Amino acid sequence: MNALVDSSPYVQRRERLFAAIGDDIAIIPTAPEVLRNRDTGYLYRHDSYFYYLTGFVEPESVLVLVGGNERKAILFCREKNLEREIWDGYRYGPDAAREIFRFDEALPIEKLKEELPKLMADRSAVHTPVGMGAAWDAEIAAAINAVRNMSRTGVSAPNSVIDVRATLDDMRLIKDRHEIDLMRRAAVISSLAHTRAMNTARPGQYEYQVEAELSHEFIRHGARTPAYNHIVASGPNACVLHYNDSNRKMQDGDLLLIDAGCEYEGYASDITRTFPVNGKFTGPQRDVYQAVLDAQLACMDVLKPGQPFNKYHDVAIEVLSQRMLDLGLLKGTLDQVIEEKTYMKFYMHRAGHWIGMDVHDAGDYRKKGVWQTLQPGMAITNEPGLYIRPDKDVPEHFWNIGIRIEDDVLITATGNENMTITTPKTVAEVEAACGR
Ligand code: GLY
Ligand code: MN
Ligand code: MN
Repeated sequence: MNALVDSSPYVQRRERLFAAIGDDIAIIPTAPEVLRNRDTGYLYRHDSYFYYLTGFVEPESVLVLVGGNERKAILFCREKNLEREIWDGYRYGPDAAREIFRFDEALPIEKLKEELPKLMADRSAVHTPVGMGAAWDAEIAAAINAVRNMSRTGVSAPNSVIDVRATLDDMRLIKDRHEIDLMRRAAVISSLAHTRAMNTARPGQYEYQVEAELSHEFIRHGARTPAYNHIVASGPNACVLHYNDSNRKMQDGDLLLIDAGCEYEGYASDITRTFPVNGKFTGPQRDVYQAVLDAQLACMDVLKPGQPFNKYHDVAIEVLSQRMLDLGLLKGTLDQVIEEKTYMKFYMHRAGHWIGMDVHDAGDYRKKGVWQTLQPGMAITNEPGLYIRPDKDVPEHFWNIGIRIEDDVLITATGNENMTITTPKTVAEVEAACGR
């Protein structure tokens, strides 16, 4: 397994963090293990910031970067332990971890408490996640206090703690080549899963049977976990934005909205498709579908370098509002609908979000009140939708139609790359994939 680790992307990212911290010290822990019930844990998931800088996925690990002349990257991790490895599996141990992941030093995690005050001494600031968890905040405070207690030996304690996530968020916003390759792979696997769902869903099945097809496709391609909980929402459930029960029996004539994306090697994908369970859109379903699709395609046109982040949301509002007027879902003029936000009755979420290691990825959307400008290397979802609940003011043939169409888009130098493009999307493509 070891020979396959390419540590160079992580070394490069650490170089950038070294440059950002100057003479200070950065301390980044991975995520704690979390119990699910009694003595049974959730499948372990590392912390994304820690992973970004290390590629190391074992729990109980902490990265320390000591800046300035001493300049060294130190990993604290679990020691090798044959007894534990018989039960829980392989662990690198400090020596192998140092060599394979190219740290300057690696020490057993048990040494952290003792070493941190020494490493912090005479550094003016500590860069670490602040407010991420009470236990970690307390650990940092205790280490700073321990340096203060050494002050009679002539050392001084750091006088500020800076949230390192602000620096890392800016880095994470622009994906590097290594990340883009993994995100493309995650996107393709999720695309296969959605296509499989279209191929196999039938009236009379339960939503969880479709969910099983998604999981099957993810896992058989090496993506063991979803990037977020699957949404498999048929009929009226499609109008529940975060529907999670997956227990309804699907009916002939239903639409099925699936929002599902795998996590592959620590990177998320996030696709939504909506299709008729019996393979053929009804007239009203097709009209609403086409409205959402046209909005999504119009959004694609403004996902390019130089555009402010919110531009595509405005485009989504404009196209959807006009279509809602055309379909008789709303009354008034386009200006009124936009000004008075009456579109929010049927379109109540934003057009998308950053995506990367986390499905709703790190990074500011606005800085000091100004929307971020799109740049090559940013990854973003494009996901307008319409959700029409039963309502006396709405023509009945539209009731319970909920449609969202979501792709994962990489901003490139010349425009964008739709990483999830292989997922059927037009009415004809979707009906063909349903194959009936
Ligand atoms: N699946 C979560 C989202 O679309 O934002
Ligand atoms: Mn989604
Ligand atoms: Mn999304």
